[in-house]
Amino acid sequence: MLRCLQKDLLRKYNNDGLVSHTSEEQRKVENTIEECYDVIEESIKSSGDDNQVPQLLREKHLKYLVRGLTHPLHQSFQCLDASRPWLTYWITHSLAILEADSELTINAHDVIKFLSKCTNKEGGYGGGPHQISHLATTYAAVNALVTLSTEEALKSIDRNQIKKFLLQMKQNDGSFKMHFGGEIDIRGAYCAISVAKLIGIDDDNLFENTPEWLLSCQTYEGGFGAAPEHEAHGGYTFCAVAALVLLNCLDKCNVKSLLKWVINKQHRYEGGFAGRTNKLVDGCYSFWEAAILPIVHIYLAQKYPSLMPVDKWLFNQQALQEYILCCCQEKNGGLIDKPGKHRDYYHTCYVLAGLSIAQNALSSQLIVGSQDNKVVPIHPLFNVKLDSVRFANEYFATNS
Ligand code: FPP
Ligand code: ZN
Repeated sequence: MLRCLQKDLLRKYNNDGLVSHTSEEQRKVENTIEECYDVIEESIKSSGDDNQVPQLLREKHLKYLVRGLTHPLHQSFQCLDASRPWLTYWITHSLAILEADSELTINAHDVIKFLSKCTNKEGGYGGGPHQISHLATTYAAVNALVTLSTEEALKSIDRNQIKKFLLQMKQNDGSFKMHFGGEIDIRGAYCAISVAKLIGIDDDNLFENTPEWLLSCQTYEGGFGAAPEHEAHGGYTFCAVAALVLLNCLDKCNVKSLLKWVINKQHRYEGGFAGRTNKLVDGCYSFWEAAILPIVHIYLAQKYPSLMPVDKWLFNQQALQEYILCCCQEKNGGLIDKPGKHRDYYHTCYVLAGLSIAQNALSSQLIVGSQDNKVVPIHPLFNVKLDSVRFANEYFATNS
């Protein structure tokens, strides 16, 4: 039975009699979530088949995604003109998660051609043609190309040029700036490490002092901030944890307080995650926060195999899937932050990635709804389809 229909299990936020702006916002969100649960209850009653509900609106999402890849975007997306490799990654990765292989194959050549136009002579990829290179768009472009899983896509990645760019972004203290003259934060280190590991260009020199700099971003709460002395946040905590694991030194941070912090970001009534303490649930943290748990889990399982379960992660996978399927789908396709928000490609990508994390534990699957809701497993460190990471590893090991 769905957890969200077991009313006696669900407990709303308790403000202890103290009303604040934050507690009121939380109350409003819980009320909209309750409306979603009522809709689910009604549709089970009317269909008489509780195995089919809630349903992943796969075909609708595919239509929304393919349109974004093949048609000019509405002018309201102007603000994303410097994020075009991101759009490419969000859409191709979403298609891959939904197993839309033919849609990816049909569009692969155009995607490769477009991303090649975003490269610069300094190395790396910019936010669009004729834009300066940026670590985040370099990460997005490489992830999109690896997602395509073709020789043409991988061959188009100029590894020497990317290494040159990463070395120019590297700071003496181990951190990375996002672009020439740009800001320094933990995204830079993660993007650099992820790209270097995925295309096999990492060496000790490139990441000298980086573990120490990453560790200095852990806060008293247990999560990590964007830079030393910043507030702990799910997006930056994901970057730190994935980067530390890729550099094989997660055990140098306070893993106990990290786990305590991240587990407590899953809200008990909504089932989804919030990005920071006393903030609201948001569908994109279904990846940024939930993926931290498999990453830490796999790391600990290698060290303490008998202690770690293999059939489940350390968060409520059923509750997260119910949040995603009952509260984060637009009926015309696309996924969202929370009820009342509009769809976009960023949330579509990270909510689907979160669904994949919540369905696929180490040795078993948990699928809420029918088996038709199943999506493909992803690699939590890179947020790329697992098979595509393997294909890239083999390709770059033999073509270096
Ligand atoms: C707060 O927004 C969110 C941020 C300041 C950025 C979070 C960082 C990421 C999502 C990670 C980016 C990673 C890469 C690889 C580029 P908010 O205040 O609107 O949201 P909140 O209330 O949920 O904190
Ligand atoms: Zn979000």
